Amino acid sequence: EQNHRESLMIVSGYAAKFFHESLLDTDEGQNIGLSYFKERGFSNDTIKKFELGYSPDQWEAFTGEAIKQGYQEEYLVESGLSVKRDNGSLYDRYRGRVMFPIHSFTGRVIAFGGRTLKSDKNVPKYVNSPESEIYHKSNILYGLYFAKRSIREEDNCYLVEGYADVISVHQAGIENVVASSGTSLTVEQIRLIGRLTKNITILYDGDAAGIKASLRGLDMILEEGLNVKVVLLPDGHDPDSYVQKFGTNAFKTHIDQNKKDFIVFKTDILLKEVGDDPIRKADAIRDIVESIAKIPDFIKVELFVKQCSSLLAIQERSLLTEVNKIKLGKQ
Ligand code: CTP
Ligand code: MN
Ligand code: MN
Ligand code: MN
Ligand code: MN
Repeated sequence: EQNHRESLMIVSGYAAKFFHESLLDTDEGQNIGLSYFKERGFSNDTIKKFELGYSPDQWEAFTGEAIKQGYQEEYLVESGLSVKRDNGSLYDRYRGRVMFPIHSFTGRVIAFGGRTLKSDKNVPKYVNSPESEIYHKSNILYGLYFAKRSIREEDNCYLVEGYADVISVHQAGIENVVASSGTSLTVEQIRLIGRLTKNITILYDGDAAGIKASLRGLDMILEEGLNVKVVLLPDGHDPDSYVQKFGTNAFKTHIDQNKKDFIVFKTDILLKEVGDDPIRKADAIRDIVESIAKIPDFIKVELFVKQCSSLLAIQERSLLTEVNKIKLGKQ
């Protein structure tokens, strides 16, 4: 089985090299893929570092070359790089897309995300590798290999949604950044970060989906015993679009001025919707209390109860009683 996994990683590494060379050394790659990355503001160094690539817009460009080089069909299909037709022949999964290789914790290529260059709504924006013996989506964070040193040094990890967010934020000099890449955040992903730091800062897209995912993510992070802050971006922006449009300094300033403790973030969001209605306010407070009750450490619970009490003008004693009810209910 070790050999089997190794073969899958070897063919994936070969594919990354093929796509990267096709981006840099072919006319089609340069005219379509490279100019796209340049328009997005990715530098040559960034393109090299993340091994970005381009898949030719043909049915068998990659598969044909891989077979010629002696790679076995079994691994081409299992890695998801090639797809088997009913008649048994193979074709390329990725065609005419810019390619984002996904690296393991130790830097091996284990999967790909391929982005379309078309704005056609019927074409999926990203095509991703299927699950395989070397790629379990729920255990992978995009960018972790490039971020791990900085996460330890900064003792904090920025969590973003997508590939381009990781790359642009990294290019801006903030290297402690990883993405859950579309799949909603998992416990395994939080534990991976937890081995490097106990502090996570959520930096999701500034839209309704991003806020919803932030609320869900912060509860999961609290439940794992980690500390969590949230930065909300202006509506319609994600970290990539923000830093590329306004620049590195503005981005850092925005983070500094908008980084919120989870309670403050939740309070702002929930109470904004509630207005003066006491019943709805009580519901909102209960929601915040439920987040606090997820924290395993009782000392932290007490500190957050204090903070919540002063933010919401509710007696500490009432809040603590509610927290304890929830905690007892769970035992
Ligand atoms: N995603 C995906 N499949 C999709 C849409 C999204 O796998 N059809 C994943 C990708 O990892 C993507 C992330 O979810 O990077 C966030 O999605 P989204 O915000 O829609 O895309 P962006 O990363 O902002 O992509 P871009 O800036 O290139 O438009
Ligand atoms: Mn197998
Ligand atoms: Mn989004
Ligand atoms: Mn984006
Ligand atoms: Mn986005």
